[in-house]
Amino acid sequence: MAKRKRSRTATLERVPVSDPPVRPGLVGPRRRVPREIERPPYARTGEPGPATSSAVRNADEIEAMRRAGQMAAEVLLFAGRLVAPGVTTDSIDAEVHDEIVRRGAYPSPLNYRGYPKSVCTSINEVICHGIPDSRALADGDIVNIDVTVFLDGVHGDTSVTFEVGEVDDHSRLLVRETRTAMYQGIGAVRNGAPVSAIGKAIESHARLHRLGVVREFIGHGVGTEFHSGLQIPHYYDRAHTTPLETGMTFTIEPMLTLGSPNLYLWDDEWTAVTADQRRSAQFEHTLLCHDDEAEILTRTPAGEGAAEVYAKE
Ligand code: MF3
Ligand code: CO
Ligand code: CO
Repeated sequence: MAKRKRSRTATLERVPVSDPPVRPGLVGPRRRVPREIERPPYARTGEPGPATSSAVRNADEIEAMRRAGQMAAEVLLFAGRLVAPGVTTDSIDAEVHDEIVRRGAYPSPLNYRGYPKSVCTSINEVICHGIPDSRALADGDIVNIDVTVFLDGVHGDTSVTFEVGEVDDHSRLLVRETRTAMYQGIGAVRNGAPVSAIGKAIESHARLHRLGVVREFIGHGVGTEFHSGLQIPHYYDRAHTTPLETGMTFTIEPMLTLGSPNLYLWDDEWTAVTADQRRSAQFEHTLLCHDDEAEILTRTPAGEGAAEVYAKE
């Protein structure tokens, strides 16, 4: 039987736009962090300053990164239990904030470049950096919750896209294959590999499923700084020749889209949404580069992570 080549347009016509679109809700006041909790340098001013830390971490920093990563993973597991129809993203922010503070850490997003909340919640066509507000999750939504904690002088950064109740088939595929794309990227990490190997693995997986790859937001060095100078694009460019090195810590956090990956920002200057209103998903881990592989820092000591625990299949 002759194979008929499916055009991308023909496939797209069957992908519905997100309806109704996500609209800005009311954003509540900034939450407080007890005095005794150690804060990152930008907590007061909102300004992280120029990224100057080394891309390679020392032994003490690596131990601290394991603790921060583990805590971020545990908080994300906690966050996943809150996801249900009717729950507002502001109430998720409140509970996640309290949980992080209760564990003696600082919620890294709070006042980072002036960001007003403690966690990012990105629903449906929102690609990333959604600000928790009065909107309630609805059955059929997908929502990314991005948790970063600052503990013992370093950050641990991890996110998952959760399904709210029953979601449509396109969204299920999007969520599943974005998770797989992240792990393909992680699988490309080793000492000496060019940073482009990560984007190559992610983009090839996205292509296989006709998903778009967002270019404007990329993975990043993370450690004593929330975002250090190291850049980890999720698309392939042969010019990205920087070699990965044992001891580097960074995130891989691909954002894949059902339609075009083109985006614009809301007037809040944070919320990034797809220009075509089709849905986007994201998964993120913080990693440590070893000689032959990546160590995933954002898991519990038992090796659990929200990406698997909340996977629907
Ligand atoms: N956690 C996000 C990342 O993965 C960054 C959020 S910055 C904020 O890099 F200010 F929006 F919180
Ligand atoms: Co990140
Ligand atoms: Co993040």
